[in-house]
Amino acid sequence: MPKTRIGFFGCGGIGSYHAERLKRLENVEIAGGTDTDSQRLKTFVDRFGGVPYRSLDEMLSAGRPDAVYATTPPFARGPEVAAIEKGIPVFFEKPVALTMSKAEELLRAVRSHGVVNSVGYMSRYMDLVDLAKEQISKGGPISMVQGEWIGSFHFPKGHWWVYKDKGGGQLIEQTTHAVDLARYLAGEANVVSAQIDNLVVNKFIDPDATAEDTSMVMLRFRSGAIGTITSSCVSQDSYAGWGVKVFAKDVVLDYSGSAKTLKVHRGNEVREVRSKMDPYFEEDRVFVEAVRTGNTDGIRSTFEDAARTLELTVAANGMSEKGHIVAQGTVER
Ligand SMILES: NC(=O)c1ccc[n+]([C@@H]2O[C@H](COP(=O)([O-])OP(=O)(O)OC[C@H]3O[C@@H](n4cnc5c(N)ncnc54)[C@H](O)[C@@H]3O)[C@@H](O)[C@H]2O)c1
Repeated sequence: MPKTRIGFFGCGGIGSYHAERLKRLENVEIAGGTDTDSQRLKTFVDRFGGVPYRSLDEMLSAGRPDAVYATTPPFARGPEVAAIEKGIPVFFEKPVALTMSKAEELLRAVRSHGVVNSVGYMSRYMDLVDLAKEQISKGGPISMVQGEWIGSFHFPKGHWWVYKDKGGGQLIEQTTHAVDLARYLAGEANVVSAQIDNLVVNKFIDPDATAEDTSMVMLRFRSGAIGTITSSCVSQDSYAGWGVKVFAKDVVLDYSGSAKTLKVHRGNEVREVRSKMDPYFEEDRVFVEAVRTGNTDGIRSTFEDAARTLELTVAANGMSEKGHIVAQGTVER
């Protein structure tokens, strides 16, 4: 059976994380990669194999990979169009872009060329999330959803994450996982209001930081459920984590993405289920399978769907900038 050859656009942290997992699949070969940082590129190909290419275009034309992993930082999205236009499947890391106009440009290409695509919202592949969905279908309807991403600020000086125009800020770059999971569990939502600010980090830790350190977003789901999404990187390592809580008629679900646990509360009882599953491996396995067979049924996060998660976080940013509360009338019942 011929191997699926994968090329990496961006050979840093998450690129290496995926490459490690892809190497475990016997029908996959790393074709190489391209990165603006030549040292990182060398480290990557030394470790995973393949050819170091000078550009994405060179990788596409000379390397002719069967699929591309787009694992550059959020500000570098866009050049993947070249792969899509050649009919090459693309796995995108989240967020799919920093702006809706960039996301729509990529989405137009994805649609018109019909390439296999997937986005790195790995939690959708967790067995615990399947269990949460099952509990919701039996114990619904949902009244409230609470998503959060809390951590300490640990980025080195000059890191792209620190700049809003490079990473998008904590809500767009990090808490997007909680927003996406809230959508996956509770359906589509609109942003009702948002407050986003940088209150501590750029005053006391890194004066150059433009990414927010604190945000709160209120959502109204189309089902009528009400939601909040809370983010902070002004916390302590001993108080950090991310997850989504769902309050439904007969059950409360407390999913922790960081602890890989699901607590199912019913009456006075709580059942805690732990998982050892590696959702990154599963999303990689499913993507490769889709590339090989052309059957995309197993893909749980498409570019089109992930663009809707971006839309919510972008809307929250815009609403916060305008400083006003919008629309009671956004609920479609
Ligand atoms: N799904 C997850 O759990 C998860 C975890 C971490 C990061 N991510 C996402 O993955 C993406 C990358 O994050 P990371 O932590 O790996 O960042 P990183 O900085 O470790 O790696 C990014 C790499 O891209 C390279 N790069 C930057 N601009 C480039 C360009 N124009 N062309 C080619 N290479 C370029 C950098 O030199 C770097 O090696 C981000 O979008 C991030 O949100 C997702």
